[in-house]
Amino acid sequence: MLSLNNELINAKVFKNKTIGSDYVCELIRSEICENDKSSKKTVLGLATGASPKLIYKRLVHLYQKGEVSFKNVHTFNLDEYYPIQPSDPNSYHHYMDEHLFNHVDIPPKHINIPNGTIDQNEIETYCTSYDERISNLGGIDIQMLGVGRNGHIGFNEPGSKLGSKTRLVTLDKKTRVDAAEKFSGINHTPRQAITMGVSTILRAKKIICFAWGAKKAFAVSQLFNNGVTQDYPITFLKEHSNVELVLDKGAASLIDSKIL
Ligand code: GLP
Repeated sequence: MLSLNNELINAKVFKNKTIGSDYVCELIRSEICENDKSSKKTVLGLATGASPKLIYKRLVHLYQKGEVSFKNVHTFNLDEYYPIQPSDPNSYHHYMDEHLFNHVDIPPKHINIPNGTIDQNEIETYCTSYDERISNLGGIDIQMLGVGRNGHIGFNEPGSKLGSKTRLVTLDKKTRVDAAEKFSGINHTPRQAITMGVSTILRAKKIICFAWGAKKAFAVSQLFNNGVTQDYPITFLKEHSNVELVLDKGAASLIDSKIL
């Protein structure tokens, strides 16, 4: 493992995504177990997509071995396609059930995922209440975060504002192209989504951002080669004082080796 602590970014580079995922999993496990010891709840911000799959697999494994419990865990997912039914195999509701919730002891009422079926004219109120629910629980302890090829975080596409809150957004062409295979073609791929805002994400106490593979290398390198710019929402992470960037060699391949 390589560590780099350039001014603002604390990054770790692992040989491969399996080892990197184990590392992220351990950070989450220890946060939950520490909070349990002092009878405190843990609030997690959860990500979807290909990147966190091994992290969830490992967390389920630790739960099965009795090394962690989700009884006192509350979760808020980053995003969901809109419109989409929770039962749709491509929904993030379905993803979360399949990869985590169906296999652990989290009370269903502790689970929060943006609702892809909400009526169009209720979306604004709904999104405001999503952010309020997070605040009412004392904020997110650990926010898991993947990154899109275009540098998006959650579904905060290029052009998103630093102060943005949870809201309905239009998806970037690149994002839709990346999702098209799952949806059996671009024409069936949703054009919109509900996402936590940039400011919602940045309010988390700790952010763990992970990326695997060379296809993420360009987006990741923007953190090091750019200032804070809405062209690459990942750069907004520089505004947070407790971010850990976890990469494999491929995702770190465009970071200047002088930094490493
Ligand atoms: C998706 C999600 C993001 C995710 C990112 C990367 O579209 N909305 O929350 O982090 O894009 O996805 P993947 O991990 O599949 O590469």
